[in-house]
Amino acid sequence: MIGKGRQTRDGIRIYETADFAGMHRAGALAARILDEVAEHVFPGQSTGEIDRLIEAKVDAAGAKSATIGYRGYQHASCISVNHVVCHGIPGDKKLKDGDILNIDVTVIVDGWFGDTSRMYVAGKLPRKAERLLQVTHDSLMLGIEAAKPGNTFGDIGHAIQTYAEKHRMSVVRDFCGHGLGQVFHAPPNVLHYGRPGTGAKLEEGMFFTIEPMVNLGRPETKVLADDWTAVTRDKSLSAQFEHSIGITATGAEIFTLSPNGKFHPTWG
Ligand code: MF3
Ligand code: CO
Ligand code: CO
Repeated sequence: MIGKGRQTRDGIRIYETADFAGMHRAGALAARILDEVAEHVFPGQSTGEIDRLIEAKVDAAGAKSATIGYRGYQHASCISVNHVVCHGIPGDKKLKDGDILNIDVTVIVDGWFGDTSRMYVAGKLPRKAERLLQVTHDSLMLGIEAAKPGNTFGDIGHAIQTYAEKHRMSVVRDFCGHGLGQVFHAPPNVLHYGRPGTGAKLEEGMFFTIEPMVNLGRPETKVLADDWTAVTRDKSLSAQFEHSIGITATGAEIFTLSPNGKFHPTWG
């Protein structure tokens, strides 16, 4: 049994055992929507149309989109194509054969936030993008493996960074994961790079996202004039996968697992 309404010194909320159920419901809906969206990603499709489908699915489930109205954002998803790192705004632009894209959805179910993103491909997956997607996906899962009591947030970042860099790719520094639960963005900042043993200690009852962005080229990003779209400065391809997780006594539970095993675009 874990404590009621406690916060750590670093301002990280410790949730209760019963709270995991709410996070599983929110996470499962976000993951199901990402599963269902896969068949709507193809060359010629616009990202705006994909976003409208996502908004309709959130409504049909009786849930709320966490992103509509968030700091003035007006869409139910972020859709980040090719060299867009994150926060791509859905619009009229049509996907082309070989485009890779991240779709990021956050829903609110009974007050609980489920935040997840994954990669898709329009048409045929190019060879160099295939490596990028695999390394980014695997770096997320290695980060989740490091997420257990006794370890620190630096251990998570270190696991992700060393894996990506071993494959001659770079980890974006300008965006990070975050605590969530009954709020969208809360402490801590979950960095996707770091040194072992540094940062706050992980404790049972912490809820947060891990969402590494990995580039084929250099790690630097810039935000476009729309104030949202983040791109790689060197225009290299970028990929991202995101899960929402909860720390248990022995490890982590993933709230946003794909119900159909479709988390990676070459699966399912
Ligand atoms: N879902 C994103 C995250 O992983 C946040 C998107 S905020 C938005 O934290 F306003 F851009 F949608
Ligand atoms: Co997130
Ligand atoms: Co997200």
